[in-house]
Amino acid sequence: MAKQKGKIKRNDDYASKERNLVSLASDFLYRHIWSLLILCLAVCAYFQPHIFSGFIRDWIGFSDHWDTAPLPESPQFLAPHARLEADTTKQQAVVQAFKHAWLAYERDAMGADEYHPISHEGTNLTEAGGIGYTVVDSLDTMLIMGLYDEYHRARRWVNQKLTFDVNGNFSTFETTIRILGGLLSAYELTAQDPLLLEKAIDLADRILPVFETTSGLPLPIVNLAERKGYHTTDFPGLVSVAEVGTLQLEFKYLSEITRNPAYEKKVKQIMEVVDKAKLPHGMASIFMNIEDGEYIPSSVSLGSRADSYYEYLLKQYIQTNFSEPIYRDMYLDAMSSVQTHLFRKTQSGGLTYTSELQPEADETGVLSWRLVPKQDHLACFLPGSLMLGAVSANPTVPRNKISYPPKEEQLSADGLRDWKIGHELLKTCLATHETVTGLSPEIAHFRIASDGMDEMPNAPPDWYIRGAAEDALPSYNARYMLRPETIESLFIAYRLTGDNRFRDHGWNIFQAIEKHCRVDSGGYTTIISVAEIPTRREDKMETFFLSETLKYLYLLFSDDRTIPLDRYVFNTEAHPLPIFKPSR
Ligand SMILES: *[C@@H]1O[C@H](CO)[C@@H](O)[C@H](O)[C@H]1NC(C)=O
Ligand SMILES: *[C@@H]1O[C@H](CO)[C@@H](O)[C@H](O)[C@H]1NC(C)=O
Ligand SMILES: *[C@@H]1O[C@H](CO)[C@@H](O)[C@H](O)[C@H]1NC(C)=O
Repeated sequence: MAKQKGKIKRNDDYASKERNLVSLASDFLYRHIWSLLILCLAVCAYFQPHIFSGFIRDWIGFSDHWDTAPLPESPQFLAPHARLEADTTKQQAVVQAFKHAWLAYERDAMGADEYHPISHEGTNLTEAGGIGYTVVDSLDTMLIMGLYDEYHRARRWVNQKLTFDVNGNFSTFETTIRILGGLLSAYELTAQDPLLLEKAIDLADRILPVFETTSGLPLPIVNLAERKGYHTTDFPGLVSVAEVGTLQLEFKYLSEITRNPAYEKKVKQIMEVVDKAKLPHGMASIFMNIEDGEYIPSSVSLGSRADSYYEYLLKQYIQTNFSEPIYRDMYLDAMSSVQTHLFRKTQSGGLTYTSELQPEADETGVLSWRLVPKQDHLACFLPGSLMLGAVSANPTVPRNKISYPPKEEQLSADGLRDWKIGHELLKTCLATHETVTGLSPEIAHFRIASDGMDEMPNAPPDWYIRGAAEDALPSYNARYMLRPETIESLFIAYRLTGDNRFRDHGWNIFQAIEKHCRVDSGGYTTIISVAEIPTRREDKMETFFLSETLKYLYLLFSDDRTIPLDRYVFNTEAHPLPIFKPSR
């Protein structure tokens, strides 16, 4: 019936053409009003995304101040010559792993410093309450992965719950690299969300008193509420060279963006003390005396307590766009002596590794150095660092004149040496993944002629895990605690060469993590021996798994416009900070 009626009516209307046109237009408008409205909004959103997203947020009732924080825009990530394509399938697998880890933490322990995925609990570093260890360490990974919902919730926690007015003793070094670094990097990636800067300044101001010592070397412990530095109870009077030499990127960037030189002044003073304290062999021992700023006889190593000191010599030079050659020279000196004194090759497979020197005093007190063929997993940052140094620290050819991969003639003699050794060391780090789990141990020992192991049945040809076979609890050496260093080196090697083999190795490690460290109910754990199957787990997910391991994996499979190495320098916790020309 209705159909017929309409037909008749329309026929009648043909009588007046003018009336017909008007009616057609209004009819069209009426029918398509919603489509048109949506089209207008889409055009508006395309050209004015901030107004539009602001409107949406007001409308759905966000009130806190995240909401004015702009999200990263793509131009910020653009490199002039994109060459490397993303492998989006693998990237998405890494994003899923991040969500599996983060969502479990958020569900069970939101706001706690550390997460224990098996017991589904969170704990704090001190009894006085959390300072955002896991949350702040994860912010920039979420931004880089495009996990904006997760980021909004984490930012809301920072806005509403995070306080540094906590009466507890914290590590100066860890607090700086994880929290100050995390805030500053997220500040940069959100196009300068003021909340994050405000928190960063508050934290840095609470840390500043640790530098008030006779030498200017920082006290290793800080009470954030008291704004006071302390010695450690284990090594009173001492501070490690990593703890003094791994604050510079964070404090210098803070000075740059606040135009307040106070932060930078403190960390530059440290570098002067360290430069003066130089040992005869040109290297750094792991411990320094806070009072007089001298080294004390202690191990020389590229692993724990020293690693990031070497990393930051190079990165300080990169951070200010190669404008402070003093750090390049310190870096090149350090790498030359490391080369002479610490690099060794195994006899059987010819694997290059880094050893340690340990001081030994005879009865008369005369000191000698003993070479110990052991390499921490931590030292696996070095292959990538050496390759980055080879293309960045050439005194004669500027970085932007070097092709990727570099040609031999573009590198200095030192650079060429480091480029090659970087590849060899990376091969060794990958060799330590050749275990039943595909994961590498915390500490690997290498075979030397005098170790007497040739007598043993099934003696390993090149390397082994000391104490891995002990029944009850394997030695600390045998564990894998979700560390990022091999993957970090693979990421840098891939960006500098485009060689897909580095991606393949990274993918294998990722799959080993999925297989052995993933907890079904959410999160990932440390495993106590990489040399046994089935694996035994320890109930802990380190925060660097979220900030470093998964970020470097994601970036390994990204195109090279994402956090390009000519615009960013990563702090030692994988928080990217921009390269800048100092404005002073
Ligand atoms: C850890 O600290 C956070 C933030 O202060 C607090 O909400 C939480 O209850 C603390 N957790 C434990 C287990 O003490
Ligand atoms: C911090 O460490 C110092 C020195 O060891 C100690 O005296 C003080 O009680 C500690 N403070 C807290 C809150 O634990
Ligand atoms: C760093 O220096 C190079 C060469 O002088 C210049 O092209 C580049 O824009 C500078 N980068 C920054 C971030 O200032």
